[in-house]
Amino acid sequence: MAILKIARMGHPVLGHPAEPVEDPGSPEIIHLLADMIDTLDDAGGVGLAAPQVHVPLRVVIFFVPPGRSAAQRYRDAGLDEDDGPVPLTVLINPRIEPLDDDTGLAWESCLSVPGMTGEVPRHTRIRYSGVTQDGSLFERTAEGFHARVVQHECDHLDGILYPQRMTDMARFGFADEMKRRHEDGNGGAEAEEDEEI
Ligand code: NI
Repeated sequence: MAILKIARMGHPVLGHPAEPVEDPGSPEIIHLLADMIDTLDDAGGVGLAAPQVHVPLRVVIFFVPPGRSAAQRYRDAGLDEDDGPVPLTVLINPRIEPLDDDTGLAWESCLSVPGMTGEVPRHTRIRYSGVTQDGSLFERTAEGFHARVVQHECDHLDGILYPQRMTDMARFGFADEMKRRHEDGNGGAEAEEDEEI
């Protein structure tokens, strides 16, 4: 197991569609997943896609931590458990299907765009599926932050970084500046640390 180097925006591996995995149970994929889990743990984010570690394959890992602020807010607002905490999840060859036309804006940051944050529109509710590390097919519904993380990670497999999804580039900037703007009441980000995806 190893901590892998994370590709940053501008590296070609982040700009091209990744290839499907033909044998999810192969030793190479098991090894890659172990390294991705170590790398995510070291980097302190909540999600990682294989192209971010220079491997152009359709593999993502993510989790939603308990007490993550948006999840808590959604729960407080009575939204459904599809936005609750999620244990570390491996998805190989994932697919996403929006459940309706609702979209929402929230702040995102990415391990491949270090130090920056931006407000990104995403589908509010999705169904997603993929193959897990033991080769079984897996399907879940998700909403809120959970749905956002999955959409962000799967975009990495199609060569898309979150700034390319933004509709208002005035809402993109250095995370510390946007956080200060929020604290000053000028509409900046209240994104927390360790939420890069
Ligand atoms: Ni990312």
